[in-house]
Amino acid sequence: MDDVKEKAKKQFEQSGRNYRDSAIHAKGRDLEWIIEEIRRHPSPFLALDIATGTGHTAFALSRCVRRVVGCDLTPEMLRIAAEEAERRGIGNVTWAEGDAERLPFPDRLFDVVTCRIAAHHFPRAERAFAEARRVLVPGGRMILVDNYVPEDVDELLNRVETLRDPSHFRAHTLAGWTRLLREAGFAAVSLRRKWETPVVLEEWFLRAKTPAHKKEEALRLLRNAPRRARDLLLLPAEPARLILRKGMWVAEK
Ligand SMILES: C[S@@+](CC[C@H](N)C(=O)[O-])C[C@H]1O[C@@H](n2cnc3c(N)ncnc32)[C@H](O)[C@@H]1O
Repeated sequence: MDDVKEKAKKQFEQSGRNYRDSAIHAKGRDLEWIIEEIRRHPSPFLALDIATGTGHTAFALSRCVRRVVGCDLTPEMLRIAAEEAERRGIGNVTWAEGDAERLPFPDRLFDVVTCRIAAHHFPRAERAFAEARRVLVPGGRMILVDNYVPEDVDELLNRVETLRDPSHFRAHTLAGWTRLLREAGFAAVSLRRKWETPVVLEEWFLRAKTPAHKKEEALRLLRNAPRRARDLLLLPAEPARLILRKGMWVAEK
């Protein structure tokens, strides 16, 4: 297994509960947008949520799809997800351990595949998207939500993200994510929404359990960045906030 994937497992084994409780993950408006998107078509039967983490997207899907499978690389995340499903009385989600780049499912099984705030961990996102396409029925849809980086701060922000969380691999630009989905062979790819989520820097580092010296290095990079980069990335407010940008894409097989 790749070094990056080992790092992802290690990272999420130790910070799983923080993700379960994180407002960005548990309550983002994008969960409602995903449901809206799914309801635009006749009710799907089976959905797969890739890199489900502690299950927030799988739980949202469970409201509009007959059955959901939540798949993740890290058993500890799945354990927390299963515990949470039981606590909430959600009975139509099952959990599977697996790598997004080699999904443990046969071809043409799912009506919908989602992947939310996770593809930036994949060393070969294009391979994960091709796998998503493979397991979709013809005409099925993949819904991708992820962070994107403005071109001008691509290198800086990816560096800061990796210092914060060594399992971060790469957030692409808007055009970059679109291109990767197209290259995976989807017939139609469209960016449905883009939005900004300011995060309190301290909380952001806390959630990932970033060691102090790495946090200091990341903060130094941000502080010493050119004015234009700082304007793009930071909100002049106390406590200090970083502007994260997200997009939602729909790709049709
Ligand atoms: C931020 S969490 C996902 C959040 C979740 N999708 C949600 O909506 O709340 C990132 C997850 O990606 C998983 N992950 C990282 N690399 C993976 C891979 N190659 N295959 C499957 N899961 C992976 C991690 O184990 C972690 O649980």
